Amino acid sequence: MEEKVNKYLGEIKEFAATGKEQLEEFRIKFLSKKGIVPSLFAEMKSVAPEKRKEMGQFLNELKKTAQLKVEELKSSLEAKTESGSSNADLSLPADYISLGSRHPLSIVRNKIIDIFSRIGYGVSEGPEIEDDWHNFTALNFPEEHPARDMQDTFFIDKNPDNLPDGSQVALRTHTSSVQIRTMENEQPPIRTIFPGRVFRNEAISARAHCIFHQVEGLYIDENVSFADLKQSLYYFATEMFGEGTKTRFRPSYFPFTEPSAEMDISCFICDGKGCNVCKYTGWVEILGCGMVDPNVLENCNIDSKKYTGFAFGMGIERITMLKYQINDIRNFFENDIRFLKQFESAV
Ligand code: PHE
Repeated sequence: MEEKVNKYLGEIKEFAATGKEQLEEFRIKFLSKKGIVPSLFAEMKSVAPEKRKEMGQFLNELKKTAQLKVEELKSSLEAKTESGSSNADLSLPADYISLGSRHPLSIVRNKIIDIFSRIGYGVSEGPEIEDDWHNFTALNFPEEHPARDMQDTFFIDKNPDNLPDGSQVALRTHTSSVQIRTMENEQPPIRTIFPGRVFRNEAISARAHCIFHQVEGLYIDENVSFADLKQSLYYFATEMFGEGTKTRFRPSYFPFTEPSAEMDISCFICDGKGCNVCKYTGWVEILGCGMVDPNVLENCNIDSKKYTGFAFGMGIERITMLKYQINDIRNFFENDIRFLKQFESAV
């Protein structure tokens, strides 16, 4: 009997299953009710009593070895089928990684920067919290001008340490304040655009928001004329809205430019025939502009006899709404992924 057990032990140790069926056959052969191990236990009766204990231990070892073998092979077969499943198939395409997209306002701002940089404009920025001098006074706003009113401007509690003249600091209402900061620090020639956020105390609606973005442009040098202004902005309009875009200038008023104008472009949706975007006029307004008022140059210590220049300012939201036909300005600030996803991929 001992010999038989030794033989089976060897057989068990050497056994290697290639599939589940084979393993099951092995289990039945050794461990099922009528299998080898139980029948060997049954043979214990014929073993001499003094040898029974030793034999019993020997048979238990055989049983344990068979059981262990089955467990071992079972788990290694399971591991094999897992690693052989679709997860490990290297020929399959990789998981889809969804890309973000740029915010439409960034797309348009970058395009404006790109268009002006091609004709020699640099880019700079100024602070969003401004003092009265840079936002209003240096820009020739009269003391009683309505734009200074509480209803339009977000004032910040004055800090007597910062402003000895007692005036209040405010969130800038336009990027024209950066014109002043630039002219105070640089002598002409100056050719720069200033993109940035501006703030106005307005009720939020489909067409107006209390926070929005502007791009300001400033060009100061000797002999800069209104013809230069017209040609530069005509170039901008055709680059931004496409070849064949017509422009027209309407007289307007800004305290810091003289003469002042607003520029319209021919409606690119209906091609000037009349639609609800252009309110059936065939034209849409896109920016304000004018020749920098000599008073403003003098306020910044630039010789107004020697130098002239022009400035312009446009709302990025307005241009984006026109370009992509978006009819509610609030879309830009809600960050609804379904809205944002419709714009050019970030890469
Ligand atoms: N700052 C003006 C506005 O916010 C726009 C403007 C800029 C007009 C520069 C003329 C020159 O409406």
